[in-house]
Amino acid sequence: MRSVVSDLRKKGKTIGFVPTMGALHDGHISLVTRAKKENDAAVVSIFVNPAQFGPKEDFRRYPRNLKKDAKMCGKAGADFIFVPEAKEIYPEGYAAYVNVEGDLAKVLEAASRPGHFRGVATVVAKLFNIVLPDKAYFGEKDYQQLLVIKKMAEDLDLPVRIVPCPTVRERDGLAISSRNAYLSPEQRKTALVISRTLKKAVHAARDHGFTDAKKLSDSIRSAILSQPGIKLDYAAIRGGTTLEPVKRIEKGCVILIAAKVGKTRLIDNMRI
Ligand code: PAJ
Repeated sequence: MRSVVSDLRKKGKTIGFVPTMGALHDGHISLVTRAKKENDAAVVSIFVNPAQFGPKEDFRRYPRNLKKDAKMCGKAGADFIFVPEAKEIYPEGYAAYVNVEGDLAKVLEAASRPGHFRGVATVVAKLFNIVLPDKAYFGEKDYQQLLVIKKMAEDLDLPVRIVPCPTVRERDGLAISSRNAYLSPEQRKTALVISRTLKKAVHAARDHGFTDAKKLSDSIRSAILSQPGIKLDYAAIRGGTTLEPVKRIEKGCVILIAAKVGKTRLIDNMRI
């Protein structure tokens, strides 16, 4: 990867980078297409990063399908895929981690998944140092992750532009995710309550002038709780740049939901 990158840079080519954990779908591919469109070369990394999974999470059963992923990357116009081994990224005795501090990295996903963003920030910093991209593409699907990465890049003066990309959804509204593969047809139907509720809430705020954050988040919570087969982790309305709690809903706020359908943890969000 280093020699590929140094060759590209010598030739004055710009590099667009899309870090992923594989099991690629149309959400990832939208990032790859954009990276290729906005840069001379598009690089995709595929690495199921052990450092960002908790001990009871799905690291071992996370879907892996390199052949299919490589094909999809090629079709989307990626020039290189980088598929390191865990022992290359974290050799024996590995000890350097990147911690984004402050409330942004304490709330919501961070509270539910201790150590998760430390693992994400560490691997993304390492990948940036290897790939040396001009621009790196991240999905709004993982809204808090996007903000944590932006903060890291800004605070550490990393010479990369973080480009947010809109969430790609199935026709019925379900946010596309590699973890959707875990859902049975029944569970998939249940999961639809998440995007449906988000859509209704955004509509209430944007088109009906609903401004009371507590009332709206209470009604989101009860809509989710009234659906059998789903367990709510959180439903929150927050400021769109630091995820601070808000009383009054304004443009730029974001509504975030995390819930479990069976053993599968799903997250989704929509901006107002
Ligand atoms: P992964 O879940 O594979 O996602 C890779 C990128 O694709 C992330 O930026 C994510 O936000 C984006 N993405 C996923 N689903 C999307 C959708 N439906 N629409 C638009 N974008 C979508 O996120 C990770 O991997 C890892 O944490 C990683 C950043 C690679 C670090 O290990």
